[in-house]
Amino acid sequence: MQDERPVDQLTEAEAAAELARLAEAIEAANTAYHTHDAPQISDADYDALKLRNRAIEKQFPELRRTDSPSDRVGGALAEGFAKVRHEVRMLSLENAFDLAEVEDWIERIRRYLGHVGDLLFTAEPKIDGLSLSLRYEKGRLVQAATRGDGETGENVTENARTIADLPIDLDGAPDLLEVRGEVYMSHEDFAALNVRQEAAGQRLFANPRNAAAGSLRQLDPGVTASRPLRFFAYAWGAHSEPLAATQHEAIARLGALGFATTPLPRLCTGPDELLAQYAEIEGQRAALGYDIDGVVYKVDDLALQRRLGFRASTPRWAIAHKFAAQLAWTQLEGIDIQVGRTGALSPVARLKPVTVGGVVVANATLHNEDYIAGRDSKGQEIRGGKDIRVGDWVQVYRAGDVIPKVADVDLDRRPEGAEPYRFPETCPDCGSEAIREPGDSVRRCTGGLICPAQQVERLKHFVSRAAFDIEGLGAKQVEALWRDGWIRQPADIFELPNRYREGIQRLENREGWGRKSAENLFAAIEARRRIALHRLIFALGIRHVGETTATLLATHYGSWAAFEAAMTRAEVGAGPEWQDLLSIDGVGAVLATSLVTAFHQEAERAAVETLAAHLTVEDAEVRAPVESPIAGRIVVFTGTLEKMSRAEAKARAEALGAKVSGSVSAKTDLVVAGPGAGSKAKQAAALGIETIDEDGWLRLIGDA
Ligand code: IVH
Repeated sequence: MQDERPVDQLTEAEAAAELARLAEAIEAANTAYHTHDAPQISDADYDALKLRNRAIEKQFPELRRTDSPSDRVGGALAEGFAKVRHEVRMLSLENAFDLAEVEDWIERIRRYLGHVGDLLFTAEPKIDGLSLSLRYEKGRLVQAATRGDGETGENVTENARTIADLPIDLDGAPDLLEVRGEVYMSHEDFAALNVRQEAAGQRLFANPRNAAAGSLRQLDPGVTASRPLRFFAYAWGAHSEPLAATQHEAIARLGALGFATTPLPRLCTGPDELLAQYAEIEGQRAALGYDIDGVVYKVDDLALQRRLGFRASTPRWAIAHKFAAQLAWTQLEGIDIQVGRTGALSPVARLKPVTVGGVVVANATLHNEDYIAGRDSKGQEIRGGKDIRVGDWVQVYRAGDVIPKVADVDLDRRPEGAEPYRFPETCPDCGSEAIREPGDSVRRCTGGLICPAQQVERLKHFVSRAAFDIEGLGAKQVEALWRDGWIRQPADIFELPNRYREGIQRLENREGWGRKSAENLFAAIEARRRIALHRLIFALGIRHVGETTATLLATHYGSWAAFEAAMTRAEVGAGPEWQDLLSIDGVGAVLATSLVTAFHQEAERAAVETLAAHLTVEDAEVRAPVESPIAGRIVVFTGTLEKMSRAEAKARAEALGAKVSGSVSAKTDLVVAGPGAGSKAKQAAALGIETIDEDGWLRLIGDA
């Protein structure tokens, strides 16, 4: 590096060559550092490379490379991939486990659509891999992104290009087409990969899905290229023109464009045929040579799919019918109690390790004290009333992704002298009393914010992926920083860089922290001072407020100021704020009580306010086109709708930016009245509010 020319003396050609050299050198250093955990140059030299790269880019902006190392600097992206915002969200699927749930799904579809005629469905295997979205512009693969949280994924374009059965160029595709599907690894390739890993002294993968995920998310595309990944297309995202009118034709079109599509597809008319195809696919399961974990059913007619639309994170028009769980027997060696962020005491079974469906299981959930005692939440017997004791032989099962569970116990093999399990009545962590509220199956520590376990668990939740997702601050780091007293509540995280102005050195001196990781951590923290409203609401860790609810609340209130003000003014059980909260589809009294109570507890409140002072909270985004004739207007539906259900009408109106209200008032902008409309239509007339019928409504929203 000694003979480097000053940047301002470089010619354009020299600069381009230099940028190429630097990109390569930085990439090599990254790979050595992150992928192989074996740095080959000092931090100072690494920083010098980056600085020079930046200086040249500044001087010659037009020469900036598409794979510029600057895109990965500092901040949250430093250690991983660039983020990609999905133009069309990547969703997951609702699960069904038996015929009744499949029938219920079909019934809900009929009700939602107000549909009585025939319905056609496709059925195909659910591939157990990881989903990938491939963006083709003018027939060229320009970007590949993982699902991430559904809104934002990781840019893995270079890696995806190495997947052999992915076409790089498409002939005759729409100008814009995002093809979605599953990346997976065959059993054979998985076994061979693990043999190679072992020979090279590298860690083994637990199953083909982990191997596929680990291989795709490699910072060095060269590593990905050496891993035998495959791809099945089964869906699409953004597109400039429709692929077809039906799901099965669209998939055929993807096949014609050169994609491998899911095998064993079938068009079915109803539950009987769906079940027959389910049985057929389950029968073929062992011979397929790769993992599948169920069968996906989809409404075939794409116009109906469009009408059915989405809930918060799953489409209404598809469902995954999962295969039955895989089972094994093993011995229960002990029961540990874990304290969660809401104080819940959760019993965890420590098992003699056993393989269940190809994965070694050593822990399983025991749910709660009733479950151990052989009762359900209503006091009814489960497992024929058999309780679970340490030393027992228990049957363990895994269903899909979920944590293993204990299904049954073998009384014939119960060791002599095994004692019934006594569930603790104090918190194993802080010693506070642990109580069960009436109607709650869970015993909770009453220590609140003084309970160390609750503090740590809340912090872990706070930094988790769907919450603040602070790169470099995972569960392990949170535990360590908590132990040292550096962070006790979320706000402390944002004080870290300040409070430890010399902190880089101090963090650096900790085991497992180098200067670079400390700097990266501070940059990642900085990056998160701006946060989306739904992430903040979810991050607060309020009981019953999951990701879906947080999103509902964010879209309803729009801004942190509005949300906070409403929660502050709200009173449990009465008043306009309470009513408004309950008017949100998906918010019930239990959730609302939990939310309002949390905002009225002094310590909680103080913690939230200190935190908010560090943040710039982004208003909730309205993704739907806001340019619609009903955007921003308050609409009331009354009477019978004949072409769609009330639920669909409401969902459509909201998607178009309207607010749907249950009652007519002076604020109402529009009343849609079907046959049988009574007092509301009269009220509207009295108030002079515009009233239209269902056809008028359909014309208005451009659907007639
Ligand atoms: S359709 C709008 N079809 O399963 C949702 N998904 O558990 C489109 N998956 O996120 C998904 N095989 O990654 C669909 N044949 C299949 C699938 C499939 C596997 C994955 C997909 C999804 C996940 C949900």
